[in-house]
Amino acid sequence: MCGIVGYIGHREAYPVVLKGLKRLEYRGYDSAGVAIYDGKNIKLSKTKGKVVDLETRVKEEISDVGTLAIGHTRWATHGEPNDVNSHPHYSNSGELVIIHNGIIENYAPLKQELINRGYEFKSDTDTEVLVNLIEDVKKNENVKLGKAVQVALNQVVGAYAIAVFDKNKPDEIVVARLGSPLVIGVGEDEFFIASDASPFIEYTNNAIYLEDEEMAIVRRGKKVKVRKIKDDSLVDPYVQELQLNLEQIEKGGYDHFMLKEIYEQPRAILDTFRGRMLANEGIIRMAGIDDNIEKFLNANRILIVACGTSWHAGLVAEYVFENLTRIPVEVEYASEFRYRNPVITEKDVVIAISQSGETADTMAAIKLAKSKGAFVFGVCNVVGSSISRETHAGAYTHAGPEIGVASTKAFTTQITVLTLIALKLAQKKGTISTSEFHQYLSEMDAIPAKVEKTLTSDNHVKTIANIYKDATNFLYLGRGYNFPVALEGALKLKEISYIHAEGYPAAEMKHGPIALIDEQMPVVVIATRKGHYDKVVSNIQEIKSRKGKIIAVVMQGDKTIKNIADYVIEIPETLELLTPLLTTIPLQLLSYYIAVMRDCNVDQPRNLAKSVTVE
Ligand code: M6R
Repeated sequence: MCGIVGYIGHREAYPVVLKGLKRLEYRGYDSAGVAIYDGKNIKLSKTKGKVVDLETRVKEEISDVGTLAIGHTRWATHGEPNDVNSHPHYSNSGELVIIHNGIIENYAPLKQELINRGYEFKSDTDTEVLVNLIEDVKKNENVKLGKAVQVALNQVVGAYAIAVFDKNKPDEIVVARLGSPLVIGVGEDEFFIASDASPFIEYTNNAIYLEDEEMAIVRRGKKVKVRKIKDDSLVDPYVQELQLNLEQIEKGGYDHFMLKEIYEQPRAILDTFRGRMLANEGIIRMAGIDDNIEKFLNANRILIVACGTSWHAGLVAEYVFENLTRIPVEVEYASEFRYRNPVITEKDVVIAISQSGETADTMAAIKLAKSKGAFVFGVCNVVGSSISRETHAGAYTHAGPEIGVASTKAFTTQITVLTLIALKLAQKKGTISTSEFHQYLSEMDAIPAKVEKTLTSDNHVKTIANIYKDATNFLYLGRGYNFPVALEGALKLKEISYIHAEGYPAAEMKHGPIALIDEQMPVVVIATRKGHYDKVVSNIQEIKSRKGKIIAVVMQGDKTIKNIADYVIEIPETLELLTPLLTTIPLQLLSYYIAVMRDCNVDQPRNLAKSVTVE
C-alpha cells in the first residue's frame, strides 16, 4: 500500500505533489512526507498523520520552492507510524532520497551487511536499508544513480515501487517497480510519477505504466528510458492515453467519496453492461469470454479467488453460476488458497476478482493457478492494474475510480460482470431456456433504474441509523443469493463504524448466534419474497420472541414482515438472482450513516488502506 508521487519539470513541484498525495491518501494515511530539491539542496519534511498534517509541517519547517519533488503517504509495514519511519528517507551521506511502496523482505541481512560496513540507521524501515544499499553500490562501483538502483534491486527480495533522486544530479528521478504499481505521466517538458494516474490527470492524459521488473530514468527535457532490471535490456515504452477525468476523482458535492460512490451505482452498473448486453436483441458479448468460451464450457469447475468485498462478490457468483450454468464453483480466500497446496488442474478455470487489481494475495493465487496450468480470468476495476495484466483474459467492471476505502460500487459492478458471464455461458450450454435468458436480460436492463429507486430510501435509512448508531453489535442475516450480501453488510459496518458485526446464513442462527439475541441486538434481515421467504419469516419471529430488534430489507409491498419487524426498507421487485444488486444498497447506506453519526472517518477508516499490496 502507500502512495508515491513525484514531479520533475517547469512548475513548482510541491503543490503538484501535495495535491497528488491527497488523491492517493486512500492507499495509506498513517504518515506522509515530501522531499523538494530547491536548486541547491534537498528540503525534507515528514510527519506522522495525514497529508493535512504534512501541509502544516511543511509551512513551519521548509521552503517549498523547487521544480523537483517526491512525496509519500504511508500505510506502515516495517516500523510503527511515527515521524522517523515516515518517507522520504535519506541515504547516510544525505545525497540520495527515496520513497517506497512495498516490502523488502530480505532487509534484515542487507541491513546487517551495511551496518558491518559502517552505515547507520535512524528508522526501523526496510526503505532506509534500500536507499543505503543504492548508495553503497553507487560509491563502491563508481556508477551513476540509475545503474546503482539496478544493481541494488537485483539484490532485493520483495515488492517495490520506488522513486529516488540524487541531489548531485537534480535533473532526473529514477523509478522502478516490482509488484507495486507505478505510472509515469508524460507532459510537455514535464513528468509525473505516481502509484496511479489520479495525481496528474489535470496535467496530462499520456502515461507509461511500468511493468514488473522494469525501471525508468525520468530526465528533465528528455525521453523516458525504460529498462529491464534483471538484464539491463532497453524497453520501448508504450505511452497510453488515459480515459480518466478529473470529475471522476473528486467528491462532486458529496460529503464523502463513499456516499458519492454509493450514488454512482446506477451509472456504474449501466456502464458495466453497456455495449456488452443488448437486451432487446438477446445478446451478451464480452471479448474475454467470447474468445475463451470453450475453456469455460469444458471446465471441470470454476474456482473463484478474491479477498474482502471481492470475495463476497465471488460468493454471490457461486450461487449465480451454479444455478444458471450447472458448472461446479468453489470460492476461496486468495490468502488461504495460495498457501494450502490446493488441487488445481488444467481443466480448471480460475476467476480472480479484485477492484484494485493490486491485492498481493490475489496476485499470488493467480500465479499459483497459472503455474498449475489453469486458465485464469480477471475481473478488475482498475484498468492496466497488475492483476489485469497477469491474467490470461478478463473483463473490467467499468465502475470508475473507487476512492472510499469501503468498497461499494466495485461490489455491485463485480456482481454485474459475473452475472453477465454466467448468463452467457448458460445460454451457450443451454442450461437456461431462451425465454429465461431474455427475461434475465430485460430484468438486468432495468436494474440501474431500480438501484436509483432503492436509493430514495436514503432518508429512511438515515433515521434507522440514528436509532441504532450506539449499538455495540449487529447481526446480519440472509439466505441464498443474499447470504453473501449479509456478510458484505456486516463488513461495511465493521470497517467504517468500528461496531462489531457478523453476517450469517439466516438458518444458521439457531446453531449458535441466537444466544446473542437480546433487546440490545439489532438484526438486519434480508428477506426477499422468493428467497426462502417463509423460513426467513420464522427466523424473524424467533428473534422477535427474544426481544431482538429487526431491520428488514424486503420487496416492495411486503405486508407480512412489515407487521413483525421494527423497521422495513423496501427494494423494487426483481428476479431473485438479481436481488443482491438492490439489497446491498440500503446496507451500504446504513453503515455510511452510522459511521458519520459516530464521527468516524468514513473514507479513511483506521488501520485500513484501499489496496492491500502486502501479505
Ligand atoms: O482491490 P481488491 O478488490 O482486491 O480488495 C480486496 C479487499 O481488500 C477489499 O475488498 C476490502 O475488503 C475493502 N476494504 C472492503 O470494503
